[in-house]
Amino acid sequence: MARPAHYETIAPALTGGIPRCVESTRQEGEFRFGKRLAMSPGAVAVLGETLRKFGTEPVPCQEGAQVSLAPGASPALPPEGFRLEVTPREIHLEYGDESGRFYGLTALEQLLYLAYRFGADQALLECGTLVDCPRLPWRGVMLDSARHFQSPDTVKRLLRAMGRLRLNRFHWHLTDCEGWRIPCKGAPELAQLGTLQEGGYTLQDIQEIRQVARENAIAIVPEIDFPGHNLGLLRLHRELRCDPQGESGEICLGNPDSLAFAKARFQEAMELFPESQYFHIGGDEAWDGNWRACPKCQAMCRKLGLPSARKLEEWFMRELSQFLVDQGKTPISWRTEAILTPRNVLQCWGNANDMGACAWHDQGENQVISSIDNAYYLDYPQASEEPRFCWMVNLSEEGVYSANPAAHMGEKLGKRLLGLECPLWTELVPEWRLGAKLFPRLVAAAESAWSPWGGSFGDYRSRRCALELAGYAWW
Ligand code: ACM
Ligand code: ZN
Repeated sequence: MARPAHYETIAPALTGGIPRCVESTRQEGEFRFGKRLAMSPGAVAVLGETLRKFGTEPVPCQEGAQVSLAPGASPALPPEGFRLEVTPREIHLEYGDESGRFYGLTALEQLLYLAYRFGADQALLECGTLVDCPRLPWRGVMLDSARHFQSPDTVKRLLRAMGRLRLNRFHWHLTDCEGWRIPCKGAPELAQLGTLQEGGYTLQDIQEIRQVARENAIAIVPEIDFPGHNLGLLRLHRELRCDPQGESGEICLGNPDSLAFAKARFQEAMELFPESQYFHIGGDEAWDGNWRACPKCQAMCRKLGLPSARKLEEWFMRELSQFLVDQGKTPISWRTEAILTPRNVLQCWGNANDMGACAWHDQGENQVISSIDNAYYLDYPQASEEPRFCWMVNLSEEGVYSANPAAHMGEKLGKRLLGLECPLWTELVPEWRLGAKLFPRLVAAAESAWSPWGGSFGDYRSRRCALELAGYAWW
């Protein structure tokens, strides 16, 4: 197709996408998209809608496809990895596993936006090879659905956005003082909770959300937060309080029914999320004052030979962890002083000084980082005009991009760095502000977690802007 003489059509580079790729080589020539494109059916399933939007009809075919897919040959591609080769005749994708296949196709989708910005007749792509795989295996987002409830459609929208950023862990904070958002067979009364906005997910919602997570190569990490953050639960179940007439948010650790209650909720959660490997048991911000004053907690300390209420808390969380380990699951908890099972994953939060305190905690746990002076807390404001709590500082896109957890953790702990996770607490974030809080900072976090360390913010930002100007939307 002849190009109009009065403007220049530039074939986009294979390196134009986000997150930045590990390796690429440029070869002579260009791949030219036309009005019809013969593609493997698996490629049509992911890219068909986008191509049709641009005016190219994807034609599914097994033989002679111009866009073809194959599991990786040798050398073996790592999990989640892929290799995309573009020649003047075809685009060929090899992948290490199903996640790599999905990531390769969505990487190509970004390049399609860049290629088609001149229209279908001029759509070109530079030839060459792109090889990619993640730096960190845990690339997460935490959504607080307790403080403000989000509709199932919004949760699915978030999962689709995460998949395209190669974010692979959806940590779902399902319970807190203000709401208990999953159905509980053994405690249906918890559905009454919900102070800011009523709502909860049905079995059907959860099934559909699990399906969308699978389609987007995402593992769901459900959280039921114990022993604190339970004001609502304990208004309904005063018998699980240290002082039934009091108003505490911490469950009584000396009452054997408390542990049984917590285990029953995790049993139900394992049934609701059967493919989930990781279950988050909470562990953050529990005050020990009630336990110190409670005869039941004190009697339990004496019975177990424990010197303090904090040690009793540790015992409770360890019992809960072991319950999950016994069923083949991996517990994860917010980092506290408690020493849990060696299989526990710790999620570090707070500031750099707190991170330093991780150093004494050397039981072999892997660490997920959500802090470094709150670098990944996306509820913190991006600009001074946003609603904020007094403890919040501004957190810019560049701040997220350039935070380096490994540097703060030191070499020894750096080796146990499992990944990054961006929490979005929603006390101040109603559903309609979710996208505004997440973007563009989540894009920066995604590149930080996936790409080799040491990228330039300026280079990242120009790729992000070029994609947006080409019509690509993160949300
Ligand atoms: C937390 O921010 N409460 C873990
Ligand atoms: Zn008690």
